[in-house]
Amino acid sequence: MMMLVTGGMGYVGQFLLRELAQQKRSVRCVIRSSTTNEKLRQLEQWGMEWVEGDLLDRGVRRRALEGVRTVVHLAHIRYGAALLVDMPSEVERVVLMSSLWRFSRVPSAAVDEVVESEHAIEGSDKPWVLLRPSMIYGPGNDRNISRLRTHLRRWRWIPIFGSGYAVHQPVYVEDVVGATIAAVDQSDIEHRSYALAGGKELTYRDLLHALGDSIGVSPLIVPLPARSLAYIIGVLREWGVRLPVDSEQIMRLQENKRYDIADARRDLGFNPSCFREGLQRLADWESDDL
Ligand SMILES: NC(=O)c1ccc[n+]([C@@H]2O[C@H](COP(=O)([O-])OP(=O)(O)OC[C@H]3O[C@@H](n4cnc5c(N)ncnc54)[C@H](OP(=O)(O)O)[C@@H]3O)[C@@H](O)[C@H]2O)c1
Repeated sequence: MMMLVTGGMGYVGQFLLRELAQQKRSVRCVIRSSTTNEKLRQLEQWGMEWVEGDLLDRGVRRRALEGVRTVVHLAHIRYGAALLVDMPSEVERVVLMSSLWRFSRVPSAAVDEVVESEHAIEGSDKPWVLLRPSMIYGPGNDRNISRLRTHLRRWRWIPIFGSGYAVHQPVYVEDVVGATIAAVDQSDIEHRSYALAGGKELTYRDLLHALGDSIGVSPLIVPLPARSLAYIIGVLREWGVRLPVDSEQIMRLQENKRYDIADARRDLGFNPSCFREGLQRLADWESDDL
């Protein structure tokens, strides 16, 4: 039974494909021309097929969907509705990865796009399941926690926007992968959406302390005034000054990110690690890799 995976060359995709290879599933990926030879060799070793092209291209979507029974869509949710339109009736399950970001109240065109994309999917009668992860972290360059880790190792002090008492619920990448495969396999869950977040929420300060403990650093946390900096950065942007953070990101860090994962626990057997456990799994992974 062939499974199509989009976005398989991305961060989550690499962990998903590894797991699917271990489970000896038949997989076809959509890859873009920029995919490295190293990644193509890995697909070959795992016995996986691929279709090269962009998901914006209907011909590519149709070729990719030919003969598949299940789909995991990890590339941006904006392509989800088009994929559903082109989907043959033989497809039994389409798992689409969106983001808990969609519940942010900070005005943002990017969040609006996610919300609109989800609405388009929810209006489809195809057998879709939506997964909404929180911030994902894990081995390698997760572009989230890995950046903080690198910063703490180097500087041992860290500026934060605001008090740092807003709560977060980051999720370990292998927990997301497990839930994704369960969402493919589990019967009778069509047209449902699931939040995928870590086992327990923690404040941003606690997150930094846990991260520090995992690398033997006691971080010095330096709070900065969030609102005034967001305003100044917004004005600088309007003047064309580009900075590594934008005001939306700063304001989003002030939001409490506490999520109810009961539905995923019940239907997908989702039993995610809390942050300290996730960091331990990350350390174990890295030591196995040496
Ligand atoms: N990482 C997180 O913290 C997080 C949190 C919540 C939700 N999510 C969502 O979870 C999903 C997976 O996340 P991720 O971190 O693994 O994403 P990622 O690393 O950015 O990977 C995205 C993948 O999608 C592919 N892609 C993008 N546009 C495409 C197009 N037009 N045609 C074909 N392929 C395309 C990319 O291809 P190339 O390799 O060629 O660029 C890449 O392989 C995403 O939908 C993301 O929005 C992620």
